[in-house]
Amino acid sequence: MVFPTLIGGFMYFSNIGVDATQVQRPPNGHQDNAWKGIIVDTLGLNTLSGLDARHHIHGNTNPRAVVENGAMVMTGGSGIRVTDEDGKQYIEGLAGLWCASLGFNEERLVVAAEKQMRELPYYHGFFGRAPVPTIKLAAKLAEITPEGIEKFFFACSGSEAIDTAIKMVWYFNNSKGRPAKKKIISRQNSYHGVTVAGASLTRIPINQDGFDLPIERFLQIGGSHFYRYGEVGETEEAFVARRATELEQLIQDEGPDTIAAFFAEPVQGAGGVLPPAKGYFDAIQPILKKYDILFVVDEVICGFGRTGNLFGSETYNLRPDIMTMAKGLSASYQPISAVGITQDVFEGIQELGDQKGAFGHGFTYGGHPVAAAVALEAQNIYQERDIVGHVRAIAPVFQARLNALSEHHLVGETRGVGLLGAVEMVADKATKERFDPSLGLGVKVFDEAKKNGLLFRNADDQLLFCPPLIVTENDVNEIFDILQHALDRVSANL
Ligand SMILES: Cc1ncc(COP(=O)(O)O)c(C=O)c1O
Repeated sequence: MVFPTLIGGFMYFSNIGVDATQVQRPPNGHQDNAWKGIIVDTLGLNTLSGLDARHHIHGNTNPRAVVENGAMVMTGGSGIRVTDEDGKQYIEGLAGLWCASLGFNEERLVVAAEKQMRELPYYHGFFGRAPVPTIKLAAKLAEITPEGIEKFFFACSGSEAIDTAIKMVWYFNNSKGRPAKKKIISRQNSYHGVTVAGASLTRIPINQDGFDLPIERFLQIGGSHFYRYGEVGETEEAFVARRATELEQLIQDEGPDTIAAFFAEPVQGAGGVLPPAKGYFDAIQPILKKYDILFVVDEVICGFGRTGNLFGSETYNLRPDIMTMAKGLSASYQPISAVGITQDVFEGIQELGDQKGAFGHGFTYGGHPVAAAVALEAQNIYQERDIVGHVRAIAPVFQARLNALSEHHLVGETRGVGLLGAVEMVADKATKERFDPSLGLGVKVFDEAKKNGLLFRNADDQLLFCPPLIVTENDVNEIFDILQHALDRVSANL
């Protein structure tokens, strides 16, 4: 039975675990608790799925489907593969959530965590204090981030980094005596997390609908994905010029004195792996400069090698005032994120902080020493193993196999950069018309691939890939062999 399921911000249809027809439905009017009993008994109270159904609330998941069907319980990992509770192995084609860049058993990260736990398992950055690895990590990031990014604030997740960046933008403009300059622009299909402000920037309907979001001050402009938003007969160049004009028009309409910042992922990730149209950022950046609008680059997915450079900012020649980072920062072995800012932004924050007595923002676990030690070690590994060089060597194979799928009759577009890629299925290649969502085609391909040991993410009929950066050529071929087979099977059964 097919259930609508949410993974990472998208509605999709999924068969999870057991066949839902085994689950008895409660008669109408059945008491809630009795209904829970039926679910748990069916899944088995003593199974992990049963306990999960009873007690665990999942993020970005259809709450009913996972209770009825049970979760996919993961128990181990090695290299680019993870293992479920039945011992079945899967290639993690999305590196978990775009993040496990060094795979699932990097011993050096384990050792770094253990060592730091023994030395100083916890300390914070409040009141002018700092644990050693956090200082070293800040210095390391200053060395490797794009020129101009000098100072770093630490948090525990991408969303916290985004909220911190938003607060810094507001604080900065208050410091500069510009109390009205507070509105923030993001693009259609952006994903910047799920905290109240972060989800106001995120422009994926499922992350806003039902949550009374966005809050005030958040503005949206059209997406930068040429395939979807280019008009019939429009060139990519003309599309970019149109988007630039629209941005400038929005700034004029709202009043330049009210626009504080523009947030963008170099490549939009959760929105569908959408690289910008050619020349998009070259057209946008001068407009931001012209109106004194801060450019916040969200490197949460693109940072640390993903696009074939250490940062997506390098790949697209971006000059951020503020950068957010997470995921690959620690290869995701510990939850840690960072916000990097220029000296200019820092001085604004410093001035208002002086007046107020402190920069009144910070997290108990921000810059946690164990997370910072692991992140530092991840950076050492990236450097010693030349992970960027490895991505550059493997990316052509990855992109070639991806692009070859564009010939498939179910596929409208393939797109990607570095070790990021997407396959978008369409009902009609010429008109780009989407398939009827009730066909659940994306999930059917996912389920076929899963049977053969490959996990990735389907956002409706877009199939998204972001394997651990340590993938080999053989791994890439295995991923695309399984995917090709899954597409063929689904197409044969259509
Ligand atoms: C570009 C981007 N920004 C921010 C976030 C939010 O990060 P987190 O889930 O750690 O809060 C994500 C998460 O996927 C992301 O992809």
